[in-house]
Amino acid sequence: MITSSLAERLREAQHVVVFTGAGASAESGIPTFRDALTGLWERFDPAQLATSDAFRADPSLCWGWYEWRRHKVLQAQPNGAHFAIAELASRVPKLTVVTQNVDDLHERAGSQNVVHLHGSLHSPRCIDCGQAHTLSLASDALPGDGSRIEPPRCSACSGYVRPGVVWFGEMLPEGAWSVGLAAAEECDVFLSIGTSGIVYPAAELPLRALGRGATVVHINPAQFKVSSQEHFLQGPASVMMQSLLREAFGDHPVS
Ligand code: APR
Repeated sequence: MITSSLAERLREAQHVVVFTGAGASAESGIPTFRDALTGLWERFDPAQLATSDAFRADPSLCWGWYEWRRHKVLQAQPNGAHFAIAELASRVPKLTVVTQNVDDLHERAGSQNVVHLHGSLHSPRCIDCGQAHTLSLASDALPGDGSRIEPPRCSACSGYVRPGVVWFGEMLPEGAWSVGLAAAEECDVFLSIGTSGIVYPAAELPLRALGRGATVVHINPAQFKVSSQEHFLQGPASVMMQSLLREAFGDHPVS
């Protein structure tokens, strides 16, 4: 329930953090991480594929899965949540978007300086020397069955190119984590959108914001356990974010 006091908190906020998980991209047709994987991938456990061991054990299977995900993102469009978050930047003095997602839908909706805690599907690099690799945007790379693709080789050292995402057991990008943590500890309002909140250290950010006295709001269609000091808006990200902006800022077009 968006109360008038919550709307006022957002309207008066000097610094808002928007923290997103896979649920923010769900309405763009991108499966959430813990949705049962569909089609080709239903027989795999994502947690088994999203590891450096999985890549070293079977580079083509792991690379094929990430290419399948990358192509789903290339074919997807930002949804109402991404656009509402991008609009929020013009309604408050400072907005920091921190995402666990590895897609670029925030950027394609107009958000800038998005902090990617778990990396990006669009920034692969050599697994040995770390050199960045540029991928084709064409969707021709997906063979018929879409499940196994030989990873490209690094032009500098011929090592395998790996996805530019953070795998289980790997450290978060230093810069992304410090920016995200500083924003969480400084903000007045922290909107946590579409995340199950079970993967650390990312899941620590709303707790840090709460500990500093920020107003913390969770947006999720699933029933979500929150503490008595937190707000919970039950519903899809696009619906709740657009309602929140309407309640806080009215229907006036951005001046
Ligand atoms: N709007 C908002 N939330 C939604 C929607 C929607 N339309 N649809 C689903 N959700 C919620 C689900 O209820 C769930 O709580 O989105 C959440 C998605 O949770 P996960 O699949 O666990 O994704 P996420 O929280 O982003 O996972 C965090 O875990 O596996 C790692 O690196 C991976 O970044 C990922 C991290």
